[in-house]
Amino acid sequence: MTGRVRTGVLISGRGSNMSALIEAARNKDFPAEIALVLSDKPQAAGIRAAQLAGVAALGLDAKRFAGKPEFEAAMNVALAAAEAELICLAGFMRILSPAFVERWRGRILNIHPSLLPDLRGLQTHERALAEGRAEHGCTVHFVTADLDAGPIVAQARVPVLPGDDADRLAARVLVEEHRLYPEALATVARAIRAGRGAE
Ligand code: GRF
Repeated sequence: MTGRVRTGVLISGRGSNMSALIEAARNKDFPAEIALVLSDKPQAAGIRAAQLAGVAALGLDAKRFAGKPEFEAAMNVALAAAEAELICLAGFMRILSPAFVERWRGRILNIHPSLLPDLRGLQTHERALAEGRAEHGCTVHFVTADLDAGPIVAQARVPVLPGDDADRLAARVLVEEHRLYPEALATVARAIRAGRGAE
């Protein structure tokens, strides 16, 4: 029950959700700690943001590896070195192999900018507008081999407002993402800690 759940955050870009997780984990009562940030793009803005926040961050240029197995093996080495028990995908723009997902079964979370199971995949804000939806939002879910289809941990809803464009709608959803992801991580980390207590 004791230690906080060591968590690796995988990013590809600006890392605003990563920053929200780091910020939440600054509180020592938060049940997870961010042990490592990994990016498949060494130039990702989120790497610098993590370092400025005092979190270990590593860029592994996916293009420099022979293939996905080699890249994922390198991620596993870094995650093991950081003693990570849990992974949060936060704008990580690469599809993980079934083998990687299996290795981390029940231990990978993702945040997706839609109310899953609706609008899996990319360009969710554009599609929500094109379909004339009244409501939109974000979902934190466990990652399985099926893209954006694993068990849902938490969701947050926002209204689609008259005059919205994709950017305005994305910004409204993002505010909720930054609230929801730390909350969902805390829920899962508490469950992992409770499981440890039962061992
Ligand atoms: C977010 O909209 C998230 O839902 C999606 O990718 C975006 C990442 O943004 N998976 P950021 O890098 O966390 O700012």
